[in-house]
Amino acid sequence: MKKFEANKHSLNYEKMDTLHKEFLDIYNSVDLNSKDSINSKAMELLEHTKIHFLEEEKLMDRYDYPRSREHKEEHNKVLSELRFFIDKSHSIFGMNILKSYFAEKLPYWFDYHLASMDSDLAAYLKNVNLKSSKKQQEVN
Ligand SMILES: [Fe+2]
Ligand SMILES: [Fe+2]
Repeated sequence: MKKFEANKHSLNYEKMDTLHKEFLDIYNSVDLNSKDSINSKAMELLEHTKIHFLEEEKLMDRYDYPRSREHKEEHNKVLSELRFFIDKSHSIFGMNILKSYFAEKLPYWFDYHLASMDSDLAAYLKNVNLKSSKKQQEVN
């Protein structure tokens, strides 16, 4: 389990920070001893993640983010993994795989993605916003 840690997870970009807090809130509300809980939290996380990724991708498109292809590919990969493991979770074997994906792979992925791709996107967006507010000042 992991909590939102400001110094580690905050990108100082409100919209993205809110999405990441929501991700961790859902993630942390799981009971790893209950198969039903893992299943329903994985589905909740899938629903959240679709919106989360879409919101980031809208920002990429709106501000011509140059590394959007790699970032979107990574989003799609995680969405298909989650879907795949949820689909397979009807059997005991599949359920165990979903559990280890949820408990071991997802938190690692979250930290890594946030520290690499999401922080790069946030830095780019802040820079764009800074430039446009400077331009605004020049006009006024
Ligand atoms: Fe994100
Ligand atoms: Fe992302």
